[in-house]
Amino acid sequence: MTDRYAVIGNPISHSKSPLIHRMFAAQTGQDISYEAIEAPLDGFAATIERLRNAGYKGCNVTVPFKQQAFQLLPEGMQVICSEDAENAMAANTLSFSGNRIQIQNTDGSGLVRDLEENLNIDLEGKNILLVGAGGASRGVLSPLRRAGANITITNRTEDKAHFLAKRFRMASCSYEGLLEKQFDIVINATSAGLTDSQIPLPESIFTPNALAYDMMYGRETPFMAFARDQGAQVADGLGMLVEQAAEAFFIWRGVRPDTRPVLDALHK
Ligand code: ATR
Repeated sequence: MTDRYAVIGNPISHSKSPLIHRMFAAQTGQDISYEAIEAPLDGFAATIERLRNAGYKGCNVTVPFKQQAFQLLPEGMQVICSEDAENAMAANTLSFSGNRIQIQNTDGSGLVRDLEENLNIDLEGKNILLVGAGGASRGVLSPLRRAGANITITNRTEDKAHFLAKRFRMASCSYEGLLEKQFDIVINATSAGLTDSQIPLPESIFTPNALAYDMMYGRETPFMAFARDQGAQVADGLGMLVEQAAEAFFIWRGVRPDTRPVLDALHK
């Protein structure tokens, strides 16, 4: 029987997840279906209950429900939460089996895989500047550190960067303090690109051959344009999207899909 999966968000019609998971399924010969489902803004938990009762095996969760996914606690259910989801206080992957729900977050491991496997970067000892202190940043901090990177957090609202850095025992810095510093990798985890806003980073921020990584995809953000002007290598978040999906697929199916042909297809 075909196992059913879905991605839940609001809005959701733009989501590339159904396409990605269908390509994974075709490639690995897994008999699954995967659809996009829009949950009402006040109806996330009810939507999950409906899917569980209908026999779905799992789902991905996207904006704006990742925090609610982490907090799910349906009555009478056993909930198991991964360390990455605990650290991020957000989840993007749910698995249902009997009266058990597994809550996981594959965003950070997806980013690490994109950096290491697709962009061929050894993260051990690399100095990374993580710009932003919201949910997107929290989701990637622990996996990046596990990979051996030295992380500094900066944010427009400084207190949030300092708070996060304290909690994860990392360095933090104000935008002004960055004038003296250089990084091998600068990751934009802010939502500034959505409003075409520039982040006031100093031009001297990149080491020679540095990578500028924007978690956003599908558009050239002002951060990416700025980084290109400074001679940095630039990557968008499409690889992270595909890799976090592959991690979820592996959790559900026990098979790791080859992400390269899927990334190539999406780039076209
Ligand atoms: P997400 O879950 O996508 O991380 P969020 O939790 O609302 O969303 O966090 C958005 C992040 O983008 C924050 O770090 C925010 O900075 P503030 O904490 O100062 O609000 C950052 N951000 C949004 N717009 C920005 C802009 N124009 N310039 C710089 N940072 C911006």
